Amino acid sequence: MRSSAMRDLMAITARPEVISLAGGLPDTSTFPPATFAAQMTRIAQESAAEALQYGPTEGFDATKSAVRMVMDAEGMSPDLDDIIVTTGGQQALDLIAKTLVDPGDVVICEAPTYPGAVPVFSSYEADTHQVAIDGDGMRIDELEATCERLQAEGRRPKFIYSVPSFQNPAGVTLSLERRRRLVELARRRQILLVEDNPYGLLRYEGEPVPPLYQLDGGDYVIYVGTLSKILSPGIRIGWAVAPPPVMEKIALGKQATDLCTSTLAQYFALEYFGAGRWREYIDSLREIYRSRRDAMLEALERNFPRQATWTRPGGGLFVWATLPDYIDTSDLLAKALRENVAFVPGAAAYVDGRRGINSMRLNFSSSTEDEIREGVRRIGVVVSEQVELYETITSEHRLPESPGPASSGEVVPLRPPRRED
Ligand SMILES: Cc1ncc(COP(=O)(O)O)c(C=O)c1O
Repeated sequence: MRSSAMRDLMAITARPEVISLAGGLPDTSTFPPATFAAQMTRIAQESAAEALQYGPTEGFDATKSAVRMVMDAEGMSPDLDDIIVTTGGQQALDLIAKTLVDPGDVVICEAPTYPGAVPVFSSYEADTHQVAIDGDGMRIDELEATCERLQAEGRRPKFIYSVPSFQNPAGVTLSLERRRRLVELARRRQILLVEDNPYGLLRYEGEPVPPLYQLDGGDYVIYVGTLSKILSPGIRIGWAVAPPPVMEKIALGKQATDLCTSTLAQYFALEYFGAGRWREYIDSLREIYRSRRDAMLEALERNFPRQATWTRPGGGLFVWATLPDYIDTSDLLAKALRENVAFVPGAAAYVDGRRGINSMRLNFSSSTEDEIREGVRRIGVVVSEQVELYETITSEHRLPESPGPASSGEVVPLRPPRRED
């Protein structure tokens, strides 16, 4: 087992003087306290005994119907029997790995991948292979080559894990053309795809792209969703949608883990969705986060040296910045913390912990625009110091291989991660 770099960081960044661009926290202060109070009061008055009781392992049918309503907003309509309500999307990932992975089994994911998935795969002793991404998401040609190489070794991946929309950590979105190719590859090679989609509804510009689950019809795609980013991470409600043979085992795994997802939290979610205003709340989040994203992109433009590049996400919560390859962002974080600002070093998003050392994940959802501007300014100072120091020592003036941020379009291409021998 290994520690999640982000959980360690959260302890440090809890200090009030630190501007944290490190977490992946939604801004829960936007949820009206009066609505929360009214909903919890109604539960206490009308359903106290049920809300305080155990519930079914798979979750209440009413909760599953709410989940289906959320999925319907992105064009998906699974059978209720194929849904299990979990303690956050994180538990869904854990249960999927618990169900499918024996020690040494191959799992494929993106490079960089969701940092919270790294400890999941390693705790089940998966042999995790990463496939590079660019501005259009996972490189399907590289994925195909990886599958081919593994097949030559007589090994078949247990699943391919992807965050196709507004990826954590890179903010990029898998293009429609690549989505089609990915679903076709999974079908042809008979490999399960795990689609993790916490951010699909947090789109700030452009047209929605269909989820892999919708394109595939749910035959090869195991879908993972969560209410964390569109309602609250504190209630810990997520879900998985899987074909019946896999679902059966996931439910057994959940029985062993926690018997059922919090009944009280499910009752709260039901009150909330019953009130029928959930789309409006997401719209309000999109407005706020769009402005914060813009503040971050402007601040990066103003404060980061020209040697740096970064993505321009059309949604989600994160920007991924790449610095010259002589800067190790884990070392840089120590300097940044002295300036009371934090980010997630890129190495957390790589399984071997060595690649991506010159990149960083920056979150724009949980700080105000002023904090974002000040936080990016402080990071810009420590980055510029490193660049100047390097250039003074080596008399070198290096420019990035890829162009700076695009003036239009969703993202700039990511530079391929540095490969270590
Ligand atoms: C890609 C991804 N998957 C899963 C999760 C876990 O979310 P939760 O357990 O709060 O539903 C997160 C949280 O940041 C995430 O970004």
